[in-house]
Amino acid sequence: MHSFQTVADIRIEPGGAAKLDYYVDGLCKNKRIAIVTDKGVRGLGLMDAGIAALKEAGYDVIIFDKVVADPPEEIVLKGATAIRKFNAGLIIGFGGGSPMDTAKVIAHLVGCDQPLETMYGVGNAKGPSLPLLLIPTTSGTGSEVTNVAIITTGKTAKKGVVADSLYADRVLLDAELTFGLPPSITASTGIDAMVHAIEAYTSIREKNPLSDALALTALRKMRNSIVTAVNDGKDIDARDDMLIGAMLAGQAFSNAPCAAVHALAYPLGGFFHVPHGLSNALVLTEVMKYNLPKAEHWYGEIAKDLGVGQTGVSLIDEMLRLKDETHVPKTLTEVNIPQDAIPMMAEDAMTKDRLLMNNAREMTYDATVKIYETIL
Ligand SMILES: NC(=O)c1ccc[n+]([C@@H]2O[C@H](COP(=O)([O-])OP(=O)(O)OC[C@H]3O[C@@H](n4cnc5c(N)ncnc54)[C@H](O)[C@@H]3O)[C@@H](O)[C@H]2O)c1
Ligand SMILES: [Fe+2]
Repeated sequence: MHSFQTVADIRIEPGGAAKLDYYVDGLCKNKRIAIVTDKGVRGLGLMDAGIAALKEAGYDVIIFDKVVADPPEEIVLKGATAIRKFNAGLIIGFGGGSPMDTAKVIAHLVGCDQPLETMYGVGNAKGPSLPLLLIPTTSGTGSEVTNVAIITTGKTAKKGVVADSLYADRVLLDAELTFGLPPSITASTGIDAMVHAIEAYTSIREKNPLSDALALTALRKMRNSIVTAVNDGKDIDARDDMLIGAMLAGQAFSNAPCAAVHALAYPLGGFFHVPHGLSNALVLTEVMKYNLPKAEHWYGEIAKDLGVGQTGVSLIDEMLRLKDETHVPKTLTEVNIPQDAIPMMAEDAMTKDRLLMNNAREMTYDATVKIYETIL
C-alpha cells in the first residue's frame, strides 16, 4: 500500500512575488498578514514590491524578520507571540528553509495553541493551523512542499516536527527571487535538494512510484542546471530548473523520507553550524559508497535515467563531479571540524532513528566514524 500527499495549490511565475495581493487571494480571512523571514532576505528587498502591493490592496502587514539559520525554539516562540498579538489571518513564510520552517510551526502554534514541546516527532502536531503561503528564496530544502519543520532545541540538538498539518495551503515559486543567491549557497542548497531526491528514491520503508517519478525528474533538472546556476546566477532557465527541481525533490522525500546522508549531516550543523546543504554535500558520496552493496540497483537506475552510466558507481562519480564543478568544500577540516569531535558527532548521528530507519543499508556507529574520518 502506498499513499502520497503534497501541497494542493502550487503556482509558478517568475516575478510573481511582486503581485502578493493576487497570490494571497482567498487565503486571508481578516486582511491581516504576518510575514516570517530573516534579516538577510529582508535586506535584499525581495519582498518590497509584494508588500507595497498588499498595502495598496488594503492589507495590514507585520514582518517578523528575527529568524536565523537553523531556527532555535525561542525565536519560533517569540514569533508566535508577536503574530498572535497582531491577530494575523494568514502567515507568509518568505525565505530559505529556516524562515519557511519557522513559519510552518508558528502557523500551527497560533492556529491551535498546542505547546511546542508536544509537537516534535511524527504525527504529534495536531489541530488547525493558520492559513499558510510559502515562498522559497533558496532552491534546496523543498520545505515549501514538505510536512517537516526542523527546529534547534537547547544548544545543539535539532528536532523535527513531522505532521500533515504542516503542509502549506499555497506555494509560490518565483525563480527571480533566487537571482542574487551567492554561488556557494546555490551550490550547497542545490546539492541538498539532489540528496533529497537520491534519498527518496532509495528510501526503504516508504519508497513509492510517485516519489520515484518526482525524484528522477528533480535530479534530471538539477543535474543539468546546477553548474550553470552557480556560474551565472541570473540564468533564468537554470534558476527555474533548480527551484522546480528542489520542489519536486521536496514532494518526493516528504513521502519517502530521507536517510543516512541527512542523519550524518545533522551533527555538523548542530555542533558546528555548518550550513545544512553543505553538511549534506560533505557526507553524501561517502555514505553512498557505504550504501552501495544494498543500493546499487537503485543508484544504477538513477544513473541510467540521467544518462551518466549504467551502474551505481556511475552515479557516485557524477555526484563527485558536480561537487567538484560547484566548488563545495570536501573536508571537515575546511569547515573547522576537528578530529576529536568525530566520536561525539557519530553518537549524535546514531540518535537520528527517524532518518536511519529509511537507509538502504543498516548504518552503525563504527561505519559512521569511518565515514567522518575519510572526509576529515
Ligand atoms: N522542512 C524541511 O523539509 C527541511 C528540509 C531540509 C532542511 N531543512 C532546514 O532548512 C534550513 C536550511 O535552509 P536553507 O538551506 O534554505 O537556508 P537558510 O534559510 O538558513 O538561509 C541561508 C542563508 O541564505 C540567505 N538567503 C536566502 N535566500 C537568499 C537569496 N535569494 N539571495 C541571497 N541570500 C539568500 C539567508 O538570508 C541566509 O543567510 C535548516 O534549518 C534545515 O534544517 C528543512
Ligand atoms: Fe536536506
